Amino acid sequence: MHGRITRLQCISAHRRVYTQRNDGYSDQHMYRAKITGTGSCVPERVLTNADFETMVDTSDEWITARTGIKERHVAAVGESSSTFALRAAENALAMAGCDAGELDRIIVATVTPDTPTPSVGCILQDRLGAVKAASFDISAGCTGFLYALSLGDSLIRSGMCEKILVIGVETLSKITDYQDRTTCVLFGDGAGSVVLERSEGDRGILSTHLYSDGSYGKLLYVPGGGSAMPASHASVDGRAHYLKMDGNRVFKIAVKSLEEAALKALEHNGVTGDDIDLLVPHQANDRIIQAIAKRLNLPPEKVFVNIHKYGNTSSASVPIALDEANRQNRIRENGLILLDAFGSGFTWGSALIRW
Ligand code: ACO
Repeated sequence: MHGRITRLQCISAHRRVYTQRNDGYSDQHMYRAKITGTGSCVPERVLTNADFETMVDTSDEWITARTGIKERHVAAVGESSSTFALRAAENALAMAGCDAGELDRIIVATVTPDTPTPSVGCILQDRLGAVKAASFDISAGCTGFLYALSLGDSLIRSGMCEKILVIGVETLSKITDYQDRTTCVLFGDGAGSVVLERSEGDRGILSTHLYSDGSYGKLLYVPGGGSAMPASHASVDGRAHYLKMDGNRVFKIAVKSLEEAALKALEHNGVTGDDIDLLVPHQANDRIIQAIAKRLNLPPEKVFVNIHKYGNTSSASVPIALDEANRQNRIRENGLILLDAFGSGFTWGSALIRW
């Protein structure tokens, strides 16, 4: 047996490692995932509410009153999700002082990848020169960034990874029907990113809570383009490759679900709305954001809102808002930051971070 490790020995060696780690899972020794850098990027091209008045039967007054949106950034021809994800990633890595070669994972949340395959994660892995990073995409609608963040947090807590790049990116303009006034005024493009690093202190991601209910799938979906309805002349003529949404029904469920996820984060960590320094919610509709703020008893200065500039950027909305809040010094060291999102699937979730 000398010089040869048997399968049994490997298993027991693993068990020892896990046992030691489990013994060390006191608050004092547990690894945490800490956000050490944030970044974002939006396209240069802007569509204002006035632009939409010339495209569909709508008005600046209706859009502003019903959604809070004034303008949104949209990709130009030739730009795709990886265009913005790359710049957001570079900004986050620069802030963290992290070389791409140190990354263990690149996790990208998107429903609008450049192509069905390869993933945006792999495109970034190549462009960033992240030589040792396993890279992939996940799809969870507008909650995608929180799903990716939660996964990154788990990989760091488990001890499996030390440095992870998490990105939320969308070019929703590519699947938006600019003849449908009920959806086209809502969406914008962009990317946001964070660098997660292993930390042994008290600061970092304290908890994440994720939920899904697929029975609501058809209230917000793209019928065509997947294996159920591959692209054909009929699917294109039928406008099946565009996002369809029953906005009014989505609205009501979104308010309830966002509230549930936010309250769960507070309860789980034994804190109240008063302890929260900043709520950074998904930016889908200002009326939804204000309803959540009211439920958590948060004054306006504790709620980050940028929907007027970007519209709903789906997976990118929370990390773009987080990066703006960070760069505007709205986040203090040790402050408690609550992230909250809801999206197609349906999916929803929250994260509580001690910054
Ligand atoms: N301009 C003018 N009128 C409009 C427009 C428009 N752009 N869009 C709809 N209307 C009309 C409707 O046709 C309707 O007219 P009718 O009464 O004559 O039938 C009227 O306005 C009211 O329509 P509602 O859909 O009831 O309006 P509502 O107040 O619900 O606002 C909105 C619509 C903004 C879409 C809202 O429902 C919403 O924000 N929903 C939630 C969106 C969301 O959270 N999505 C989740 C994430 S998205 C993702 O995962 C990609």
